[in-house]
Amino acid sequence: MVKKRTSIHGQWSSQWVFVLAATGSAVGLGNIWRFPYMAGESGGGAFIMLYIICVILMGTPIMAAEIMIGRRGRQSPLNTMRTLAAEGGHSRHWQILGILGMLAGFLIMSYYSVIAGWVLSYIFKTASGTFEAAAPDTVVKIFNDFTSNPWILLFWHSVFMVMCMTVTARGVKGGLEKAVRILMPTLFCLLLIMVGYAMSTDKFLDGMAYLLIPDFTTLAANFPEVFLNASGHAFFSLSIGMGAIMVYGSYLPTKTSIANATIAIATMDSVVAILASLAIFPLVFTYNLEPSSGPSLIFITLPIAFGQMPGGGLFGSMFFFLVMFAAWTSGISLLEPVVTWLVENKGMRRLKATIITGGIAWIVGIGTVLSFNHWAFSFTFAGLEKHGGIFDIIDILTANILLPLGGLIISIFVAWIMSKMSVKEELDMNEGLYKFWFFTTKYVASVGVGIIFLSQFGIF
Ligand code: TRP
Repeated sequence: MVKKRTSIHGQWSSQWVFVLAATGSAVGLGNIWRFPYMAGESGGGAFIMLYIICVILMGTPIMAAEIMIGRRGRQSPLNTMRTLAAEGGHSRHWQILGILGMLAGFLIMSYYSVIAGWVLSYIFKTASGTFEAAAPDTVVKIFNDFTSNPWILLFWHSVFMVMCMTVTARGVKGGLEKAVRILMPTLFCLLLIMVGYAMSTDKFLDGMAYLLIPDFTTLAANFPEVFLNASGHAFFSLSIGMGAIMVYGSYLPTKTSIANATIAIATMDSVVAILASLAIFPLVFTYNLEPSSGPSLIFITLPIAFGQMPGGGLFGSMFFFLVMFAAWTSGISLLEPVVTWLVENKGMRRLKATIITGGIAWIVGIGTVLSFNHWAFSFTFAGLEKHGGIFDIIDILTANILLPLGGLIISIFVAWIMSKMSVKEELDMNEGLYKFWFFTTKYVASVGVGIIFLSQFGIF
């Protein structure tokens, strides 16, 4: 048996705190902003069905694998991969996962912060009554005017980045853990109320049908693209494939059940995404909006609803406040792999490491800020017409390429490289579950992700 390692960065106080932090990482803009608009761009029900299949057969097994590797190695993803590979007598090149993960972290954080900045601004817009009784056209115009001003976007992007850096610099154990305990359940309740509001519109059933009944003919026509987008989003939404959950796993006490934690996180993540869509799509149909309108979707549909409902100003600002919070707990997990690596390998203090990491992500984010105004250009990818610019390129590069590649490396690593004994010991699952996990990781997840990955380059 290998000597038990401990992390130099600390440990979660309990399994519950880990689940909370990992759910905080998973639930974010991906669920409330990205999932609904991806579903709308990919035809609704078919996307959701494939998404759920991807979560069950690829996302959950890979998440368990990633947490397990993290706890076994107890270092930054790069050093963990190198250590575990060396222990099994394998090449140090497995550390490539750490490198790709850090790259993905910078890239995702760069645009994540810009969009979270929109959310911040919308807290104030809704609170000040901007949308009261506003016609749908007015709401669209407010959004377009807002995103066409790079300086305002840059301002909010900076605010959000600093918020994340403040928490990361202190380590995750500080105030955030406490706040997450209250704010996440509140977000959940608010989402339920929003679904309630959507139910009061005439088009609720149309919205439900659009989301829950897959249209197989359209799906057959667009299968590879929809599947690619659904699987890429599963990685994004679960925060897997780049080491974020691995770092969180490295702070996990030894005696906790990885299987239970993983199932809890994945379930909560999917429920939030589906609730958000149920709140949004009936409004899309009620106000004759375009389901495939892309990243602007929630910033248009929800303000229209807040403008119509009594007390919408207060309610809307509360809603965006909670979305901001969800984004915050995700943002910090994106910085974590790079920060831990700088602390371990460059001997930096946490504060300095955070400033450098956040600073670089902030600079890259300027590309996204400009994607909605001066540098906007369109192109087509996987059958979808994209209307951003650098933002879309980064989004595709991370969700559709880097994260699945990371997931592929993780599944190959646990299925073929790590010693069976270590894997079994660290996972500590009952025999039946272990067999299921091993089979899905080894064959379904790795082969599945491999095919998806290669299909983008026209190989399949
Ligand atoms: N999962 C988060 C969301 O859905 C985003 C996120 C946080 C993430 N950490 C990540 C995505 C790591 C990929 C990898 O909003």
